[in-house]
Formats: sequence, C-alpha cells, structure tokens
Amino acid sequence: MAIERTLSIIKPDAIAKNVVGDIIRRFEENGLSVVATRRIHLTAEQAGRFYAVHKDRPFFGPLCAFMSSGPILAMVLEGKNAVRLNRQLMGATNPKEADAGTIRADHAESIDANAVHGSDSLENAATEISFFFADIDIYSS
Ligand code: CMP
Repeated sequence: MAIERTLSIIKPDAIAKNVVGDIIRRFEENGLSVVATRRIHLTAEQAGRFYAVHKDRPFFGPLCAFMSSGPILAMVLEGKNAVRLNRQLMGATNPKEADAGTIRADHAESIDANAVHGSDSLENAATEISFFFADIDIYSS
C-alpha cells in the first residue's frame, strides 16, 4: 500500500465542541500522522473557493456560511492508504447514515454540521492540500 497524503478539516461545530483531541487521536491510533496543521477562520468567499466543485448545488450557500461561522483546523494526514482510511474513520457525509464508532456518528449533528471534511481522491487531496499549505509547511515524520 502506498504512503499517501490527504487533507482533513475539523469543522467549526467540532471545534466549538472541543473534540479536536478526540478526532486526532482516532487518526493517530489508526496509523495516520498529522504532518501539517493550520487553524484558520475562513471568510465565506474563501470557503466558496475551497468548495467550488459544489457551487451549483443547492447546499452551497449554507455550506459556505457554515464553514465561515467559526475557526477550523486544516491538517495534512499521512500514512498508508490515507485517503480511504480517513474517509472510513469519518463515516458517511450524513451522520444519520454513518457507521457506529465513526467520527461523524459520534460528533456530528447534521449533514451540514458534520464535524470533519476529508479529500475524496488522491488527485483532490493534492489540490485541497495546496489550498491551505505550501510544500515548506509539510514535514513527514
Ligand atoms: P464535506 O465532506 O465537507 O463536503 C461538502 C459538504 O457539503 C459535505 O461535507 C456536507 O457537510 C455538505 N452538504 C450539505 N448537504 C449535502 C448533500 N446533500 N450532499 C453532500 N454534501 C452536503
């Protein structure tokens, strides 16, 4: 299995609940390393640029409003199969459909306030990582 990097975001709802440590613990206990972090409060315009792929979806406006409602923690996770593993640990986008024991099942309230974001492919991971981080900000263990 290849060593990959993926982007993880702890969203404003999970930051407000003070569960950052619990979420990072799940990544580390499952073999992922945090190799870059950035705490940032996005503007709605910045959130819109990050989620531009969804710009024609009906949830785009509420998504940008939510993602700019408070600080987030953007992280680069590194490890074997990091893209898929991160998404397994997050659980389904809608927490009502998320498997028991996943981050969203345990910490998310709704499909809008769903605690975490994770890149859905290796290609998108590279694009999303570069949105928040320069190469010089990322240090492998
Ligand atoms: P995320 O993985 O960050 O990617 C886009 C976000 O849009 C998603 O999590 C949800 O929080 C939000 N969203 C709201 N409604 C929907 C929907 N119907 N389908 C997908 N994503 C949605």
